[in-house]
Amino acid sequence: MKSKNITWHSGHVQKKNRQTLTKNKSAVLWFTGLSGSGKSTLAVEVEKKLFDAGVLSYRLDGDNIRYGLNKDLSFRPEDRKENIRRIGEVSKLFVDAGILTLVSFISPYQTDRNMVRALLEKDEFIEIYVKCDLSECEKRDPKGLYKKARNGEIGQFTGIHSPYEEPDQPEIIVETDKQSVNESTQQIMKFLKKNNYI
Ligand code: PPS
Repeated sequence: MKSKNITWHSGHVQKKNRQTLTKNKSAVLWFTGLSGSGKSTLAVEVEKKLFDAGVLSYRLDGDNIRYGLNKDLSFRPEDRKENIRRIGEVSKLFVDAGILTLVSFISPYQTDRNMVRALLEKDEFIEIYVKCDLSECEKRDPKGLYKKARNGEIGQFTGIHSPYEEPDQPEIIVETDKQSVNESTQQIMKFLKKNNYI
């Protein structure tokens, strides 16, 4: 619930002014997908390509944010919702700062992703579905979490005991069980160039 008796205080410098310094359009690249689908891997690769191209970007990673800002949150549906709400608000601040922001969270619920989309202006939210078959994610199991989930050592694990809702109409779909990291990275960079983000 919003606090009472608060007033928005605007400054002289606006987002559009800051964007003249960074020379790129600020927006959120929202990577969503199962654990092990390759969200963080792709965000890291895109971040490097953007840096090399002289574009100011910043990466917000689910695991990393849960070390600090969101360390009080569990994986219950209501905490996942709060996780996404907070990171949606943080992303909005980054976009306002003029930064191309890469967000990689499982973000399993469509309503939560739509909530973030609604926070931003049209064209500021680029939903990227990092699509990968559950069986392939489980085969990769880079952190051994699927094994733990199957053994009952972790509860509420996405794809095993907790749902993942596929995006309705993502701006980009990368199929990481069919294409290489490089191909997916190029696909995203091409989208950003074609749509004049960079
Ligand atoms: S969510 O659903 O958006 O709130 O999740 P997120 O903040 O992205 O955190 C996902 C990472 O947390 C680890 N982890 C789990 N994931 C899913 N379900 C359960 N129960 C769980 N427990 C721990 C896991 O490392 C996820 O990282 P990725 O990179 O997705 O594998």
